[in-house]
Amino acid sequence: MRRLAPVLRQDGVDTDLISLIKTILAACKEISFRVGQGELAGVLGSTLDENIQGETQKKLDVLANELLKDMILETGIVKAISSEEEDLPVAGNPAGKYLVTFDPLDGSSNTDINSLIGTIFSILPAKAELAADDAAQFLQAGTKQLAAGYVLYGPSTMLALTTGKGTRLYTLDKTYGGFLLTHEEVAIPSVTAEFAINMSNQRHWEPAMQQYVQDLLLGKTGPRGKNFNMRWIAAMVGDVHRILCRGGIFMYPTDTKDPQKPYKLRLMYEANPMSFLVEQAGGSSTTGYARIMDIAPTDIHQRVSVILGSRHEVESCLKYHSQ
Ligand code: F6P
Ligand code: MN
Repeated sequence: MRRLAPVLRQDGVDTDLISLIKTILAACKEISFRVGQGELAGVLGSTLDENIQGETQKKLDVLANELLKDMILETGIVKAISSEEEDLPVAGNPAGKYLVTFDPLDGSSNTDINSLIGTIFSILPAKAELAADDAAQFLQAGTKQLAAGYVLYGPSTMLALTTGKGTRLYTLDKTYGGFLLTHEEVAIPSVTAEFAINMSNQRHWEPAMQQYVQDLLLGKTGPRGKNFNMRWIAAMVGDVHRILCRGGIFMYPTDTKDPQKPYKLRLMYEANPMSFLVEQAGGSSTTGYARIMDIAPTDIHQRVSVILGSRHEVESCLKYHSQ
């Protein structure tokens, strides 16, 4: 089993970037430990606060955010961080080369039920012309990401990572204390018979999405001519992990449930890093109308419609949108 750093060095990844990724992973190991302790560590349940998204913060959200923020900023090579749990970016070293944006704990409604959760991160190049506390420096398209990944806290703690040379999976060896390469070249099957969507929002979707999912549900008797299975983990990190492992299509499309909030997932620290991982594994990622990684962001917390996974299935879904 090969370790993270030698594999990245082999790819010619900048040594500072490797050390930044290792720092993020050190924070994630600590989060993994606390998550594993669950009730025993007294970290389950909510705080009394809400984050910028108007969602209640779980104690674990806050803990994960503080750990990541402090450890990343201490490296001295990061100009600023931006997190789901921070209204504004937090400045680091003005001369730092990197920007890091992250969702400290994705799927946090799963924390109290001992179900899948994870940390999602994206690393961008710093912009010399902008101040460290200027949010505008983060507003770069997903194609500019230098690295992206997630750490999934499941029965085993796993890392999915890309630096633009394919997507790899690593497993945390808790006896040795490091992430070991367990899947060298992730390749998402281009064809699938599995979809993931929150069906309770069905009546709020656009007609194109309604029609597409209805045709999936018709199975063999409908225009698709085959049966589909459905899975929903309620943590994007878990659903995307399944897709990296065995294919599928994951959707969190536009809906009209709350007219103030037509999209659910966040572009900078959910959709973009996941799109980078999925594309590097041979899959596709789109809003239904445009490639997610091509979007020019306008806000660090902006939300976006997400359709990603097996290439042919994403193409099938896109056909409904273009009609
Ligand atoms: O971060 C948002 C998130 O928790 C995703 O991880 C997940 O896919 C989604 O929300 C689940 O939302 P719901 O099941 O409430 O529609
Ligand atoms: Mn999330």
